[in-house]
Amino acid sequence: MSNIKYDELMQPIIAFLGCETPKAWLDEALNNLPLLMQDHANCEKKAAGTAMNLMFRYSFFADLQIKLAQLVREEMLHYEQVLELMAKRGQEWKAVSAGRYAGVLRKEIRTYEPEALIDVLVIGAFVEARSCERFYALAPFVDEELGRYYRYLLKSESRHFEDYLALATEIAKTSKMKNPEEDIQQRIDCIREIEKNLILSEDDTFRFHSGIPVQVA
Ligand SMILES: [Fe+2]
Ligand SMILES: [Fe+2]
Repeated sequence: MSNIKYDELMQPIIAFLGCETPKAWLDEALNNLPLLMQDHANCEKKAAGTAMNLMFRYSFFADLQIKLAQLVREEMLHYEQVLELMAKRGQEWKAVSAGRYAGVLRKEIRTYEPEALIDVLVIGAFVEARSCERFYALAPFVDEELGRYYRYLLKSESRHFEDYLALATEIAKTSKMKNPEEDIQQRIDCIREIEKNLILSEDDTFRFHSGIPVQVA
């Protein structure tokens, strides 16, 4: 895939997100590759877990089952691949706590249905889109092997972003909501702002989805 193809693939992602990854985060990531990789591995496992939970909780939505089953498989494959890369580099598995990112986003989930499901799916779309954007931003600056892997990953994450968004729209339309399109758009706008703030505000814990690293004098 040529660079132009990647740029094309990234257009809807960049348009969807409220901001691009700041350079300060990229610099910190390049100085902390082992931590980035460990947290990335955790993110893949969590992505599979989230999708699996949705499969059990909403077993009555057939379309959701098929898309999510695919998603779980792909995220688990990514998890295995990152662990393999870590092992190849002599990096041992290390327990790493979660950053603030997912927790802050999850606070926005409404407590009634189908709005709760719609929110989980919209947040899923943002997490996938951000992951995709970060792989794209990191790829030119890491070593060749990792760069190749990140480019491979951003293709699946961009598909996951589309799947989550399509599922959110479908659930809204098939439910008895008065203005499904308006509701989805409102949620996207609201979560976009919160997500953007998480990326552009100072964050004292460096992780795959963290904000601007705090400068220690
Ligand atoms: Fe993944
Ligand atoms: Fe994904």
